[in-house]
Amino acid sequence: MDRVPTGIKGLDELLGGGFPEGRCILIVGSPGSGKTTFAVQYLANGALHGDAGLYVTLDEHPEHIKQNMKGYNWDLDDLEKKGKLLVMDASQLRRARPKEQGPHPMFASATTEGVGFPELLKTISKVIEGENIRRVALDPVTSLMLRYSEELKRRRATVAFFDTLADSGCTSLVTSELKTSLMDRRFQLEEFLSHGVVLLHTLMHEGNVVRAVQVEKMRGIPHDTQIRPYQFGPSGLEVFPRDKVF
Ligand SMILES: Nc1ncnc2c1ncn2[C@@H]1O[C@H](COP(=O)(O)OP(=O)(O)OP(=O)(O)O)[C@@H](O)[C@H]1O
Ligand SMILES: [Mg+2]
Repeated sequence: MDRVPTGIKGLDELLGGGFPEGRCILIVGSPGSGKTTFAVQYLANGALHGDAGLYVTLDEHPEHIKQNMKGYNWDLDDLEKKGKLLVMDASQLRRARPKEQGPHPMFASATTEGVGFPELLKTISKVIEGENIRRVALDPVTSLMLRYSEELKRRRATVAFFDTLADSGCTSLVTSELKTSLMDRRFQLEEFLSHGVVLLHTLMHEGNVVRAVQVEKMRGIPHDTQIRPYQFGPSGLEVFPRDKVF
């Protein structure tokens, strides 16, 4: 299977060269663990190597992300101007009520038309095709999935979502929020349905916070399964592929 370099120092070593090409990978982590940094680093690195990227933000304001990432010397505006990156703001979807619930009683005239989940998928597909996108990052998918209270509907939507990304031929990252600690965490539906899962753990060890990464699964390729330390370095996330956490 062809590989796509992740752009994260040390991580390719855990994966034997990078993410499997054309697959959809879930990045799961707690607040501030570096999910957005991971996603942007992946796209910025792709842009350097000629892969056009699409970043879809479902939570943070695009301008805030651009500001935050300047600390790593990733000038997202510049990449956009050069046609190497497209930043899509889908954060209004998070605020819109699911269609099936109807309009909010306090805003009877408000409409969710045009900002539903299927519409977002269609727009993403169109952009990927029209702009020759090779790498996609969607950050984070959690609020989108919370729109579905019924397990079956949620499952269908998740499958449709991963299928659309896989059918596009892009190598995609989808971030997901982890609300519990490593020990008592419950597996999320997205973890079963995606092609690969990378976990960003925040652990306590002898009174210190330790950041650790683990490749939980990566269908089709052999990979390291140990928990390895990582840090926020001057050029983004860095993994120490041969070190152990404890
Ligand atoms: N130079 C830097 N610029 C920006 N953030 C940095 C820098 N160095 C370290 N950080 C860390 O990055 C963290 C934010 O990373 P990021 O936004 O990627 O996390 P996240 O997992 O996406 O968070 P959230 O769950 O809030 O979306 C900050 O809390 C901070 O600890
Ligand atoms: Mg984030």
